[in-house]
Amino acid sequence: MKDQLFIFDTTLRDGEQSPGASMTAAEKIRIARHLEKLRVDIIEAGFPAASEGDFEAVQMVAAEIKDSRICGLARANPGDVARAGEAVRGANAPRIHTFIATSPIHMKAKLRMEPEDVLEKAVEAVRQARNLVDDVEFSAEDAGRSDEDFLCRVFEAVIRAGARTVNVPDTVGYTMPNQFGALFERLIERIPNSDQAVFSVHCHNDLGVAVANSLAAVQAGARQVECTINGLGERAGNASLEEIVMAVRTRQDVFSCDTRIDTTHILPASRLVSSITGFPVQPNKAIVGANAFAHEAGIHQDGVLKQRETYEIMRAEDVGWSANQIVLGKHSGRNAFKERMLALGIVFESDAELNQAFARFKELADKKHEIFDDDLQVLVGESATDSNADALKLVSLKTVAQTGTVPVADLVLEISGENHSCQSSGDGLVDAAFKAVDKLVPGSRSLLLYSVNAITAGSDSQGEVSVRLEENSRIVNGQGADTDIVVASVKAYVNGLNKLHAGRHRVNPQSGVAV
Ligand code: KIV
Ligand code: ZN
Repeated sequence: MKDQLFIFDTTLRDGEQSPGASMTAAEKIRIARHLEKLRVDIIEAGFPAASEGDFEAVQMVAAEIKDSRICGLARANPGDVARAGEAVRGANAPRIHTFIATSPIHMKAKLRMEPEDVLEKAVEAVRQARNLVDDVEFSAEDAGRSDEDFLCRVFEAVIRAGARTVNVPDTVGYTMPNQFGALFERLIERIPNSDQAVFSVHCHNDLGVAVANSLAAVQAGARQVECTINGLGERAGNASLEEIVMAVRTRQDVFSCDTRIDTTHILPASRLVSSITGFPVQPNKAIVGANAFAHEAGIHQDGVLKQRETYEIMRAEDVGWSANQIVLGKHSGRNAFKERMLALGIVFESDAELNQAFARFKELADKKHEIFDDDLQVLVGESATDSNADALKLVSLKTVAQTGTVPVADLVLEISGENHSCQSSGDGLVDAAFKAVDKLVPGSRSLLLYSVNAITAGSDSQGEVSVRLEENSRIVNGQGADTDIVVASVKAYVNGLNKLHAGRHRVNPQSGVAV
């Protein structure tokens, strides 16, 4: 019998810490439902002490999800731990994850604490958490740069205080796989009560080795991996769930453990996270990139046709690639629509919500004859982001472009309930349309990123546009989709502006800074 390798997904917490990736509670629930379908063991739903909104989102995920443990993050202080305990109380299987930094540089420069005080705080936080829930995890932040003897003492003490999982994060992505694997081996060997806790690994990708480091730790005895869908996360991101799961599954000859993940849900989860956060997946990304299973060179195609194993080490359908067939069209009815949505894990809370999404579907089906699962995901994403509370709404857009002339955009925006119109020219249609928005909604923001992706194949595909905007050090992503990419661009820009103006402030758990 192989050991179970627990998959701890932190897309909704560490992934969300990535600038611009913040999600609403409704978006978190949609992702959490997918994670549950994937059979993720633990979902880290957020950092409840960050803000009232974050607290409520964790509470809602805890109430909704039944088959995965729900975890809330807490710094090692009484306020955070109590808040996390309250947020996960309604879960079937709640977990509190508390952490404190143990590296010399973090203790001195960030915490301004002596090592002995750090150790004491860690133990107190674990004890307090154990009074609230049975399942407590402790992380030694920046373990990768911590003194090994001190790490051993801290882990031994928190296990004695009741931590069931001890996590070893490479917070700044500094270690190398052989080094990190050896550290796990020594920790497990040296800590006298190491058999009373699951050792967990948590890696960041600053040097591009987060997955390699995580796998080295697993080979050395770690039995929980913390990771995110698409490797989403601060800076270069976290270790990617899909790469870890598929490496362990594909190389069962190398690993003495396996996960319980249903890999066929990997691609839909990747698409969903990308469309909600506005972080596109690079085409050559392992497992979920558009080219991951594409065989372009003739010689490869020939080999694959004769026997697929010549060039394929995994089957595309095993990670969800074949699922995206034509599913609905212009004549599909409300029931067929609702059924397909259910199969995608999308549940409508009310008839009004279903009707609104169905009306959008009909609108899209008039423009695009074949509707794929990815179109449906985006359509629901749009309904979710299109909140009644939004101050700005796109009413209409007329664009004129011809070779040799300057493109012009005529725009009508609803601003706080009133229609305002404006015309602008620009270097291209998108530029003209954005300039028209800027005239109606002046501000000092800058556009950090603009990207367009075709959601499906074919020239009638919807274009999905992502923009990243920055204003007064706040960064947000906006998304929009339409068969007309200029309209999709304006929708994305307006969505980003609505998020900027909503001004949702929260505290980053690691830096303590309000963002
Ligand atoms: O990277 C890190 O150290 C973390 C901890 C809070 C676990 O995300
Ligand atoms: Zn992290």
